[in-house]
Amino acid sequence: MKEKIDRINALKKEKNAVIMAHYYVQDEIHEIADYIGDSFFLSEKATEVEADTIVLCGVSFMGESAKILNQKKKVLLPDGSADCPMAHMASAEGIRKVREEYEDVAVVCYVNSNAELKRNADVCVTSSNALKIVQALPNQYIYFIPDKNLGRFVAEQVPTKTFIFNDGCCPVHAKLTREEVLKAKELHPNAELLVHPECEKEVVEEAAYAGSTAGIIAYASKSDKKEFIIGTELGVMYDLKKNNPEKVFYPLSENLICPDMKKITLDKVIDVLEKDTFEVELKEQFAKEAYVPLVRMLELAK
Ligand code: 13P
Ligand code: SF4
Repeated sequence: MKEKIDRINALKKEKNAVIMAHYYVQDEIHEIADYIGDSFFLSEKATEVEADTIVLCGVSFMGESAKILNQKKKVLLPDGSADCPMAHMASAEGIRKVREEYEDVAVVCYVNSNAELKRNADVCVTSSNALKIVQALPNQYIYFIPDKNLGRFVAEQVPTKTFIFNDGCCPVHAKLTREEVLKAKELHPNAELLVHPECEKEVVEEAAYAGSTAGIIAYASKSDKKEFIIGTELGVMYDLKKNNPEKVFYPLSENLICPDMKKITLDKVIDVLEKDTFEVELKEQFAKEAYVPLVRMLELAK
């Protein structure tokens, strides 16, 4: 492993590159990332980095967002096939139909979506800012894409607006059940349950806290409790344990593994830095259009 890390560090210097990673990647990537965070952090950071090249260790929508926000940079993906299934669970045609039906509608697009969806949206959101942004919108109707669960989670907290939902979800988080929650609570009666809002309502209702990956890590670090049941992808365990060595974290389910996030390996990071394979390339017009809702998100989230 040391040899691989040394090689990556040498390549980073040679190529003037930074490595950005989402919490859900494998532990070996946590070891080498210059920046690690949730989807919002990664989007914001992409606008600030000075290096010529960003290696985005995550799924393709994250690379696309970095490229859209920073079009002059080279954005590389260690595995071009690492993709979020939910990013394709809405359609431009669906958006067009909703716009036709509702005059005063804002199309709110969770960043877990491809560039085609983003460029047809009014504003992007992540799980860490969706509530704040929806509350700030002047529109009465909100068409929330693609995640029905995050949409419902926000809608419950904004009863003054009318939501139109889309039938998409995260296959990793949406699989969790109330039975698993009850079982975990029985096994760990002193633990607090922390979950991601991509989970179903029956799971979120049982939680002490529901929020983005960064929110979950911040909550566990601040809490006086010593034990936690974690209801999000298990990549967060690396930072949870590192920041809180005296606390104990139990996975809500051993199945909380995103297969696409786990595709990223040190070998693939070396390969992409050596050969520039899997560079994010977007049509100029696409990037220009998708830039608008992403920047609006960064502004409204301030
Ligand atoms: P956040 O890191 O923004 O909480 O998103 C979770 C997720 O599923 C990313 O794919
Ligand atoms: Fe997509 Fe879910 Fe994987 Fe996140 S955890 S990348 S939402 S499939």
